[in-house]
Amino acid sequence: MTQSPGQGNALDNLLTESRTFPPSDEFAAQANAQPALYEEAKADREAFWAKQAERLHWETKWDQVLDWSGAPFAKWFVGGKLNVAYNCVDRHVESGHGEQVAIHWEGEPGDSRAITYAELQREVSKAANALTSLGIGAEDRVAIYMPMVPEAIFAMLACARVGALHNVVFGGFSAEALRTRIQDSEARLVITTDGQYRRGNPAPLKPAVDEAVAGAPSVEKVIVVKRTDTEVAWTDKDVWWHELVDSQSDQHTPEAFDSEHPLFILYTSGTTGKPKGILHTSGGYLTQASYTHNYVFDLKPDTDVYWCTADIGWVTGHSYIVYGPLSNRVTQVVYEGTPNTPNEGRHWDIVEKYGVSIYYTAPTLIRTFMKWGADIPAKHDLSSLRVLGSVGEPINPEAWIWYRENIGGGKAPIVDTWWQTETGAIMISPLPGVVSTKPGSAQRPLPGIGAKVVNDEGVEVPHGGGGYLVLDEPWPSMLRGIWGDEERYRDTYWSRFKDQGFYFAGDGAKYDNDGDIWLLGRVDDVMNVSGHRISTTEVESALVSHPTVAEAAVVGASDETTGQGIVAFVILRGGAGADAGGAEAIKALRDHVAKEIGPIAKPRQIMVVPELPKTRSGKIMRRLLRDVAENRTVGDVTTLADSSVMDLISAGLQSGKSED
Ligand code: WT7
Repeated sequence: MTQSPGQGNALDNLLTESRTFPPSDEFAAQANAQPALYEEAKADREAFWAKQAERLHWETKWDQVLDWSGAPFAKWFVGGKLNVAYNCVDRHVESGHGEQVAIHWEGEPGDSRAITYAELQREVSKAANALTSLGIGAEDRVAIYMPMVPEAIFAMLACARVGALHNVVFGGFSAEALRTRIQDSEARLVITTDGQYRRGNPAPLKPAVDEAVAGAPSVEKVIVVKRTDTEVAWTDKDVWWHELVDSQSDQHTPEAFDSEHPLFILYTSGTTGKPKGILHTSGGYLTQASYTHNYVFDLKPDTDVYWCTADIGWVTGHSYIVYGPLSNRVTQVVYEGTPNTPNEGRHWDIVEKYGVSIYYTAPTLIRTFMKWGADIPAKHDLSSLRVLGSVGEPINPEAWIWYRENIGGGKAPIVDTWWQTETGAIMISPLPGVVSTKPGSAQRPLPGIGAKVVNDEGVEVPHGGGGYLVLDEPWPSMLRGIWGDEERYRDTYWSRFKDQGFYFAGDGAKYDNDGDIWLLGRVDDVMNVSGHRISTTEVESALVSHPTVAEAAVVGASDETTGQGIVAFVILRGGAGADAGGAEAIKALRDHVAKEIGPIAKPRQIMVVPELPKTRSGKIMRRLLRDVAENRTVGDVTTLADSSVMDLISAGLQSGKSED
């Protein structure tokens, strides 16, 4: 029953996709990446990375590129010294670009602020002096719990500048989540705001800090930025940003730190267990963030306007709003609010307003745009967009095509970037202008990166085969451990393929016939139907390829005959029509899946739902859907972005209309 008929395949390969989009000659000719980059990295990996590290300013040059003798703890650019904030700010001013806008900040209510590199240098210097005045220096931990305001970026860079580690906690997390992250990292300082704008209204933020700090004795001070001007309770630990920071000198001399000096801790929640404090260091991290941002997004610092829609509470905000882009002298948009405030066209208003040319977002948002309808972007001039990116989840081929057609004008290359909080920077992605893109595939490891798909025994699967995605070479921006828990670091990432020395990322993947990599979702979510190991991603993509479906989540629910049966939850597209949720339409959907990937993957049951349960970073929580599918009481919903979603789903089920 559990034996896979596919010759011990860890995962069956069911869905095939034949569309490919070669780059235009014009794009290829001007692209930062050229095919030789792959050859160069292959010829001498360490020399290749040494060359990428030259992108940065080093106060003292390294004497060894990589020391892997303490595996799985790597040291990169050993002996080198640099200041990360200097690399992201000061050197651009010194090279004559002080008047270039670094950040076009757009507030949710419509206020805005253009911050040049010269201004950024002054703001970061003042904030660094403020930290020093509080006695915060090298190795201290600072928790940052803020919405997307410019001060959040100043604060991160100020920490980097004085060698303190920031621990950014997403502003949508609860007081309890904040408290555990402050405690685990023993933060001495918290930086926050009075409140934050959410869907058009100010919401308080500082009360959560008060509650968290009451239970976290390590905190000595709390700096509060005034954002919403709401009244806040005040304790003797509190100090206003505008009083403390604005009175500081705007001159600050950065000190160079060791390449392996810790830069930040970022907690990943995962689906089980206590959050893991992922530790990143300086030289290798900044090298890979800078290198990937330059080549994957084809950044032209003099002409591009870049926009990454992530929140700084996630690693994407760290690597692709703060460190990668600013080290490359980007001009970027930072938007504070939600995509449907004041209406569902807000992102496209912003693209038009600033002439955004590179746009990087998540599949969950693309599918939301699909649900809202293509007529919304169609009302805007999006012709400035020339590169599109995706991150966070597998992007279903149909969502990819929708993105290309409706946002990218049918021509902007799409880079589907696979990486993790743990990897620190992009690992697998097509290089625009070099690789012909394929809808739904992250395709190949970047030059300098080693990744492959292996079976249970750690042996690479052949083209067309499925299995586990592993990283088989250390990389500069790799995590340097889990804060305070070496054992857990070894166990979580290095024990599954210990003999081979592979890092196992937890994701299933396959090779297509050309050897390109397709991510298939977390291996914990794999379904076993009559001995076939079926990925959730492939069935979801088959559902989304039907013209009425915007988004789908599937789970395996125990089944007397087949071991597990596939239960699907779908959200319909805007304009799908009133009959799209009816019994006949549901039958048509099941048949569609059977036609796309085979009868074995035909869902046992399909339910039409208004929303799906997602974490705050947009990942579907299949665990909760499994509870629904197996008629269990729904488990812990505290990490859901919107906990009422499960009530909506259950209510829909009781009415019985959506059952097949
Ligand atoms: C997990 C890491 C990386 C920044 C945001 C998420 C999934 C990420 C892709 C992609 C398929 C992807 C994986 C990975 N994931 N990007 N392009 N295609 N899956 O960071 O919260 O650490 O999550 O996100 O499952 O392991 P994270």
